[in-house]
Amino acid sequence: MTRASLEKDPRDVAAMFDDVASKYDVTNDVLSLGQDRLWRRAVVAACAARPGERVLDIAAGTGTSSEPFADAGVEVVPADFSLGMLRVGHRRRGDLAFTAADAMRLPFADASFDVVTMSFGLRNVADPDAALAEFLRVTRPGGAFVLCEFSQPTNGAFRTLYSRYLMRSLPAIARAVSSNPESYVYLAESIQAWPDQRAMAQRIAASGWSSVRWRNLSGGIVALHHAVRPE
Ligand SMILES: C[S@@+](CC[C@H](N)C(=O)[O-])C[C@H]1O[C@@H](n2cnc3c(N)ncnc32)[C@H](O)[C@@H]1O
Repeated sequence: MTRASLEKDPRDVAAMFDDVASKYDVTNDVLSLGQDRLWRRAVVAACAARPGERVLDIAAGTGTSSEPFADAGVEVVPADFSLGMLRVGHRRRGDLAFTAADAMRLPFADASFDVVTMSFGLRNVADPDAALAEFLRVTRPGGAFVLCEFSQPTNGAFRTLYSRYLMRSLPAIARAVSSNPESYVYLAESIQAWPDQRAMAQRIAASGWSSVRWRNLSGGIVALHHAVRPE
């Protein structure tokens, strides 16, 4: 079983997700206590894509983050570099155009999407700034980027409680439900090492995106960043 380190070597990350693919969705539901469904609805609302528009869901995994777009009549391209995750997705939703792609070198033309979105992917990318620059390249001028990623609870007492859940309870629960429990230790460590809301916004803006704003979900466990490609 592969477990990525905080170096996030792309081969280790892809292999780790290959290992968890078969139980990925059920494990998510359990570990997030069902909150993941709420987060997905918020992503679709923030993207505000209309039928006829084209959305890239990068690091789409098994396509769970892409499904709500397709169900709303929006053309969505679920892309990921873990073939194991894509395979599970394709078995589940054969109608979606699952595409093999690395976020740091996207196989898409300039300005070919109205919206680029990424749910729980950027934290796993070896060079997030290279990925943010690629997202800007493939988004049309005036188009949007929506990032859904773990962040920092805003309330101090809740943050302490959540940190205990991450470092102690989550790995224990993962041992009972996941096909690769060690990868959930990586999950906890990578969340703790990830920039908070404000630092993330600054990083997105530094990659050339404008009008960067965010909103917290579940008390800041997750943050939704929204940005626009300048005209
Ligand atoms: C936690 S899963 C998220 C899947 C899906 N977006 C969701 O919300 O359920 C993270 C995904 O990021 C993908 N990933 C990580 N680094 C990537 C990269 N550089 N290019 C493409 N996909 C990447 C992994 O393969 C994995 O499927």
